[in-house]
Amino acid sequence: MADVVATATTQPFFATLGPASAARIMAMCETLVCPRNTVIFEAGNPADNLYLVIEGKVKLTRSTTAEDLTPRDSLLWLMGPGDMFGELSLVDGGTRSTTATTLTRCSLLKAPGAHMLELVKGRHDVALAMLGRLSERLRRADDNTAHFVSGDVPSRLAYTLLDLARRFGTANPSTGHIVVRHDLTQHELAQAVGSSRETVNKALTDFATRGWIAARPKVVTIMEPEKLASRAN
Ligand code: CMP
Repeated sequence: MADVVATATTQPFFATLGPASAARIMAMCETLVCPRNTVIFEAGNPADNLYLVIEGKVKLTRSTTAEDLTPRDSLLWLMGPGDMFGELSLVDGGTRSTTATTLTRCSLLKAPGAHMLELVKGRHDVALAMLGRLSERLRRADDNTAHFVSGDVPSRLAYTLLDLARRFGTANPSTGHIVVRHDLTQHELAQAVGSSRETVNKALTDFATRGWIAARPKVVTIMEPEKLASRAN
């Protein structure tokens, strides 16, 4: 627990808070350690808690019905260390907008929603920290929409790989290559770009043949980020 607390206080959400607010939030949080594939909540559930990722990755998915009436899951976002989720329904009183499932083993902080709302009402720094995270997310959702409306599958995939690289990538200083452990299967990558596994596989193979990336299960190495970026545009 001490390790989790130490890590949590270095997260962007806490870094923007005053020490008193950070201490109040930490005191009300419960630590959860979940194995991979744990469903934390499902879309449509009533909301009671807010979550902060300390370690690991959580995928947020939503089911829709395709034109041929088959159900289809979209992967809306991958939460990593420092990301907060589950705040929308606390703020607007609605039900959960997505299903949250751990993609890897995770350490999470769980804050009771009612207490968190009281803090938001009483403490400006907490309200601003939450607004900051929401603004970031809205900007990203705008970028996503712009790319997804105008781009074909390879361009959406290139954009998504670069986005994953920005968040989860590690640069190798001697080669300049970026190793991205995204932990997604090809099926989940397809859900993230709104396509089929086969089409995503074809695009990955094409990028690899050009020497832009090397793809292994759940990991991609980006050798030519600029080429990928120009394909994303
Ligand atoms: P809530 O609706 O309470 O539960 C699901 C959570 O998923 C939601 O709050 C947000 O925290 C998060 N979420 C929903 N849509 C997105 C999105 N497009 N990008 C990132 N996070 C999202």
